[in-house]
Amino acid sequence: MLNFAYKNPTEILFGEKQINEARSRIPNNAKVLFLYGGGSIKKNGIYDDVINLLDGFEVTEFSGVEANPSYETLIKAVELAKQESIGFILAVGGGSVVDGGKFIAAAVNYDGDPWEILAKGGEVKSALPLGCVLTLPATGSESNGNSVVTRKSTQQKLPFTSPLVQPLFAVLDPVYTYSLPEKQISNGVVDAFVHVIEQYLTYPVNAPLQDRFAEGILQTLVEQGPKALANPQDYDTRANIMWSATMALNGLIGQGVPQDWSTHMIGHELTAIYHLDHAQTLAVVLPSLMYVQRDKKAEKLKQLGQRVFAINESDDAVQIDKTIQAVQNFFEQMKVKTRLADYDLTESAITQVVTNLEKNGMTQLGEHQDIDLTKVTAILKLAL
Ligand code: NZQ
Ligand code: ZN
Repeated sequence: MLNFAYKNPTEILFGEKQINEARSRIPNNAKVLFLYGGGSIKKNGIYDDVINLLDGFEVTEFSGVEANPSYETLIKAVELAKQESIGFILAVGGGSVVDGGKFIAAAVNYDGDPWEILAKGGEVKSALPLGCVLTLPATGSESNGNSVVTRKSTQQKLPFTSPLVQPLFAVLDPVYTYSLPEKQISNGVVDAFVHVIEQYLTYPVNAPLQDRFAEGILQTLVEQGPKALANPQDYDTRANIMWSATMALNGLIGQGVPQDWSTHMIGHELTAIYHLDHAQTLAVVLPSLMYVQRDKKAEKLKQLGQRVFAINESDDAVQIDKTIQAVQNFFEQMKVKTRLADYDLTESAITQVVTNLEKNGMTQLGEHQDIDLTKVTAILKLAL
C-alpha cells in the first residue's frame, strides 16, 4: 500500500428531512449566497425547504448555474458575492451547482485572474465556507474538494482541487432525488460506477481493504441502479444509491492505491466540444479504454470480473473480454449508450478531442502515464 494522509471534514446529514439539522451548521450572522441551477428545485419543493432553512439569515439568490457549469456564468456570481460581502455559500443542486459554488468560493478571494485557478493551477489560499443540499447523487462533489468548470468561449472543461472548498456539510435527503428525470438517475449511477473504477482498475498494490470497499460500492450500484429505474420512488433504493455515490468519491477508497483518471479527462473533452452529458462520455470511453489497456490492467480486470460480475473463466483473455462486456452491458442496462455513433459522432470527433487534450496538456494519462494521444485515438476508434 502507498503512503497517505487522509481527512474528510464534510459532515454528512443523511436521510429524510435532515435539512432541518443544517441550520446550526451555517455560521451565525453570515450573509448567505443561495446558489442553484435551472429551476428544478422550484418544482419539487426543495426551494421552499431551503427558504425555511435560511429564515433569519440575510440571503442573496443566484440561479441559472448550468449543467457543466460555465465560467462565464460563475464569474457573474463571483462579482455579486463580492458586492454583497457574502460570508457563506449554500449550493443546492447536483454536481454542477456544487462545483460552481466551490469555484465561486475560491474565486472571490483570489488575488489575480480567477481563470488561473483552472487553467494554470493557481493556488487557492483562502475560500468562502460552503455547504450544500445535494439533489442528484453522482459526482461525490458534496464531500470532496474537486470542482470542474467549463469555459464556453474556448471549449475548455477543466478541474481544480483544494481542501479549502470542501463543503462543511452536505444534506443528503434521498426524497430530494425522487423528481430526477430517468436520464439523470442513469447518469448518476454510471458516473459513480466510473469514479470507483478510476480508483480501482489499475494494478495491485496489496491493498485488499481498498479493493473490497471499491467492489462493495460497485456491487451495490450494479444491484440498486436497475431497481431505481424500475421503481423510482423507492426510498431505500434511492438512499443506497445516494450513499454509494458519496462513498465513491469522498477520498476513502482512493487512499494508498494508484489512480487512473483518463476516462474522465478524455470524457471532459467530449462534453466541452460536443455537449454530451458527463456520464454519457464515460460510458463511451471506459469500455474501449479497458480493452486498449487490458495488459496493464489484467490483474484488476480479472478480479473485477470475479468479484463484481461473478465471471470465472479459466482462460485469462476470455475472463477479461467477458468482464469488459459486463461493464458495457451494465451501462446499456442503465440506458446510457456506449458508442460514439449513438451520439451522432464520427471519426472527425476523435481529431477534435485529441487536439483539445493536447491544448490542455493532457498527453500522458493513466496510472502509468502511458495513455498518450496515439492511444487516445485508438481508444476512441474502438468506441466509434
Ligand atoms: O439545473 P437544475 O434545475 O438543478 O436541473 C438539473 C440539471 O438539469 C437536474 N437536476 C438535479 N437535481 C434534480 C434535477 N432535476 C430534477 N430533480 C432533481 N432532484 O439534473 C440536471 C443535471 O444536473 P448536474 O448537476 O449537471 O448533474 P451532475 O450531478 O451529474 O453533475 C455533473 C457535473 O459534475 C462534474 C461533471 O463534470 C459535470 O460538470 N463532476 C464533478 C466532480 C467532482 N466535483 O468531484 C467529479 C465528477 O467526475 C464530475 O466530473
Ligand atoms: Zn465523474
